[in-house]
Amino acid sequence: MRASTLDKIRIFDTTLRDGDQTPGVFLTPADKATIARQLDRLGVDAIEAGTPITSAGELESVRLIAKEGLRAEVYGLARVVKEDVDAVVSSGAKYTHIFIATSDLHLKHKLRMTREQALQKSLEIIDYAKSCGLTVEFSPEDATRTDLDFLKKFCIAVDEAGVIRINIPDTVGIMTPNKMYQLVKEVKSVLKVPISVHCHNDFGMAVANSLAGVEAGADQIHVTINGLGERAGNAALEEVVTSLNLLYEKKTEVKTEMIYQTSQLVSKLSRIPVQPNKAIVGENAFTHESGIHTHGLISMPLTYEPIPPEFVGQRRKIVAGKHSGRHGIKAALEEVGLHPTEEQVREVVEKVREIGEKGRVVTDEDLMSIARDVMGEVAEEEKKIIELSELSVMTGTKMMPTASVRVTIDGKEFSSAEIGVGPVDAAMRAIQKATAGLVNAKLKEYRIEALTGGSDAVAEVMIKVEDDSGNVVSARAAREDIVKASVEAMVNGVNRLLLRQKKS
Ligand code: KIV
Ligand code: ZN
Repeated sequence: MRASTLDKIRIFDTTLRDGDQTPGVFLTPADKATIARQLDRLGVDAIEAGTPITSAGELESVRLIAKEGLRAEVYGLARVVKEDVDAVVSSGAKYTHIFIATSDLHLKHKLRMTREQALQKSLEIIDYAKSCGLTVEFSPEDATRTDLDFLKKFCIAVDEAGVIRINIPDTVGIMTPNKMYQLVKEVKSVLKVPISVHCHNDFGMAVANSLAGVEAGADQIHVTINGLGERAGNAALEEVVTSLNLLYEKKTEVKTEMIYQTSQLVSKLSRIPVQPNKAIVGENAFTHESGIHTHGLISMPLTYEPIPPEFVGQRRKIVAGKHSGRHGIKAALEEVGLHPTEEQVREVVEKVREIGEKGRVVTDEDLMSIARDVMGEVAEEEKKIIELSELSVMTGTKMMPTASVRVTIDGKEFSSAEIGVGPVDAAMRAIQKATAGLVNAKLKEYRIEALTGGSDAVAEVMIKVEDDSGNVVSARAAREDIVKASVEAMVNGVNRLLLRQKKS
């Protein structure tokens, strides 16, 4: 690893600006303020809150965030246009990130300007922004496709104009780590101000290129939570920060143990699910199934966990499936307070593998029902805490789907009613409401599959629910009626969560 002289790396988060430009994402001003507060708690150094000139809503978002009194610096993005800077000023943000494209490609086909005109306009706007009391970070957009001599000349002039930092954007993600290293080294050698990098992920290299920028002497990285951003996105905060900490021995102000909860919040508000195998924050990032791996992990976590899950606010999960082995299954059962003999473990493993080999997911509930069959005496421990006593749903073209449920909890009856986008949604919400006094069961995953054909097909519903302590359990139910199957799966999931809570 090449040495960098800087130990502390600044994290400039652009989830609310570049991330908000992700196709399909629409964050309301209130959503943005919620995310900004979380980013501030997480410990990022700077938050790019939006581009105030773009719309009244965007201006409102930046305003809301600027008056939160956050510890992080709040930036508004601006082109080299006076009205853009005025909009940043009226948003109340004290920092602005100003950009103009410098590559001949963009100058000719997008801006229809000469290099000299772009430089002249930039110097004028920096002066103007400073005269308005703003602190300026500047980006030569498409820097990585800009003629190197011109890029250096441009950056030297911008530096002299009095910006606090120059950011090098790899706007269309075409760099390799080696090229990024060389470029940052070259530009840095002619500047007085610090350098930042902003890498896009078109070739899946955003994180590697950002880290190469740091190795070459950049002291700041632009990132987004979950790697959101234009097209294939930006460098993901969670990957950058974890790598800086554990692979590069660099410090950031980020409280790494808050990474997972931040990722979940952004995923929920942006409605962009995190892919299960996403590094650091994916559901599978710390989930183990194979017998060989779980065996190794149980005797020494480092064998298959290069990152301690709690370091990023995740938890290790051992799940049952076709690759399960004795150690994993024993650990999974012990986690819920069961203590099978070696012979019983062997039998449970065999049955789990049988289900897995049919290509089916083995839920926690399946595992428990197998354990119940094999270990007879668990029956008492496995008794249901909640039971569904009644369910009714109403739906139609002229009414909101409505569901009411009655459940028995420890012998007492509780009822609740809810509306939803459809009868399944309404019924699931009604169950959550009826059991809210015991557990806040958030639905994390819902899958439905027709096991047979025709409109009377048997539907199998598989769900995952999570409680406030991060316990995640899976459950399933199969019926011809999909509302009943969904509700049964939900009740099973809630029971599993309660059991998990009782045992921990
Ligand atoms: O990717 C990019 O070039 C940008 C600029 C606004 C810096 O997001
Ligand atoms: Zn960008």
